[in-house]
Amino acid sequence: VNAPDLPPLEVFLCAPRGFCAGVDRAIQIVELALETYGAPVYVRHEIVHNKFVVESLKSKGAIFVEELDEVPDTDQPVIFSAHGVPKSVPANAKARNFFYLDATCPLVSKVHKEAMLHDKRGHEIVLIGHAGHPEVIGTMGQLADNVVNLIETVDDVARFKPNDPENLAWITQTTLSLDDTADIILALKERFPSIKGPNKDDICYATTNRQEAVKYVAPKADVMIVVGAPNSSNSKRLREVGERAGCRQSLLLQRASEIDWDSLGDIRSVAITAGASAPEVLVEEVIEAFSERYQVKMEVVITAKEDITFNIPRELREAAIEAG
Ligand code: F3S
Repeated sequence: VNAPDLPPLEVFLCAPRGFCAGVDRAIQIVELALETYGAPVYVRHEIVHNKFVVESLKSKGAIFVEELDEVPDTDQPVIFSAHGVPKSVPANAKARNFFYLDATCPLVSKVHKEAMLHDKRGHEIVLIGHAGHPEVIGTMGQLADNVVNLIETVDDVARFKPNDPENLAWITQTTLSLDDTADIILALKERFPSIKGPNKDDICYATTNRQEAVKYVAPKADVMIVVGAPNSSNSKRLREVGERAGCRQSLLLQRASEIDWDSLGDIRSVAITAGASAPEVLVEEVIEAFSERYQVKMEVVITAKEDITFNIPRELREAAIEAG
């Protein structure tokens, strides 16, 4: 509600922001599985890193577990999250005769394939990523234990002791900081000139576009607001990009209710974006909250167009058609 006595505020809405094709596909898989097979469907790990998404799927009958041993013997579908899983997970699902659906983002599966190909060719593999993130656990778990070496920083490159410095290959997590990763790749190439890798990196289009949008918009804004979850890798990176690009404050928030209005201070402009797993309704909620306190003048800043979509698994598509 824009009342004339409210202070003016410029709001720059970053575009692209929010859901990527992999997240969209993963949520569709759970929803379509619920419609086709009825509740419950079991989902291993948060399907995407967003509480709001998880709660809404729970209300429709999805049951979230961290590991398959929490799933009872069942004929109902078991779904793996968008982040990807180690090979042991589908193997375990097969052993227990589960009907499973894999919602791993195809761009993560692509990195899995790169890892396996390098291994087949006898290269020792370096994965640039963050320890403990489910995607990293999944990618490392495509091969036997201790085959993939995790590198998190430029310092790790200096400390790394390969078996054969002439026979290395690198891959990356899909949701990293573009700038930090470029520095690590440079350090790897300097130390190991014959190291092999992808043309640029494995950071996905959605991560790239969202970070570039923030970089472009941040210099115009006093405050950057990233709508996203504290455990979402790509959302955390967006907050950092906003901070490094010079915003007075760069905040990662799950919802409008988390905005600390007093600490915002005297602001004239705000930029808003959302991580790849954050639904647009949460962005709308934040805009609404600003509109209640300021006379908002909004500008959508488009830095890239996205038209990527991914198909859902064929067996689910066919079953859904059959079920009508
Ligand atoms: Fe896939 Fe990138 Fe989204 S890897 S899940 S398109 S953030």
